[in-house]
Amino acid sequence: MPKGIFITLEGPDGSGKSTQVENIKTYFANKRREVVVSREPGGTLISEKLRSIVLDNANAEMDDITEMFIYAAARAQHVAEKIRPALERGAVVICDRFVDSSIAYQGFGRNLGDQVSEVNRYATGGLEPDVTFFMDLDPEIGRARIGKDVRDRLEQQKLDFHYRVYDGYKALCDKYPERIVRIDASKTIDEIKVDIYSKLETLETL
Ligand code: TYD
Repeated sequence: MPKGIFITLEGPDGSGKSTQVENIKTYFANKRREVVVSREPGGTLISEKLRSIVLDNANAEMDDITEMFIYAAARAQHVAEKIRPALERGAVVICDRFVDSSIAYQGFGRNLGDQVSEVNRYATGGLEPDVTFFMDLDPEIGRARIGKDVRDRLEQQKLDFHYRVYDGYKALCDKYPERIVRIDASKTIDEIKVDIYSKLETLETL
């Protein structure tokens, strides 16, 4: 049985993660691997319910700590119910956002700091991705790609929040150079695909 591979995509809102999730899926499907695609917050019934609470624009009064715990709670369920079992059966799991999002958005964006890593280590039982693609795009460009009318509670935040998130991602890239691959997300979709595929080729030995 092949060894499970856990791949995550990260980046500002509107950085084109979901398009590349599909490309990564195709890459491994062509290699006859079982592929499980998921997203956070979400991925299981319970986690999707938590997603609708945390992203609901009506919940403007949500406390930052509450927000951190809802993302972590959704993640705990997602890991236990879906991600860990899939990796144990040797699947390739591709997830749109994971713990790095909480560190960037709650740790840096909301200024909650290091406690976010600790809470999430507990939530995930220490599970970490094998490789993370960071879609590097100026937050202002990402936001402009998302229509104003469809912004969720997090996307509604002011631009300085999104720049703190971006700084958080850059700090994560510096901290985990082995795991996180920076992708220039201002390139075309096809150019980005080539960059991602060349990294995936090196993963065969995992
Ligand atoms: P997502 O569905 O990925 O939105 P988008 O497709 O616009 O990137 O994520 C929803 C929002 O939740 C997004 O603004 C990022 C935020 N988020 C956090 O703040 N913390 C987290 O741990 C996660 C997973 C997402």
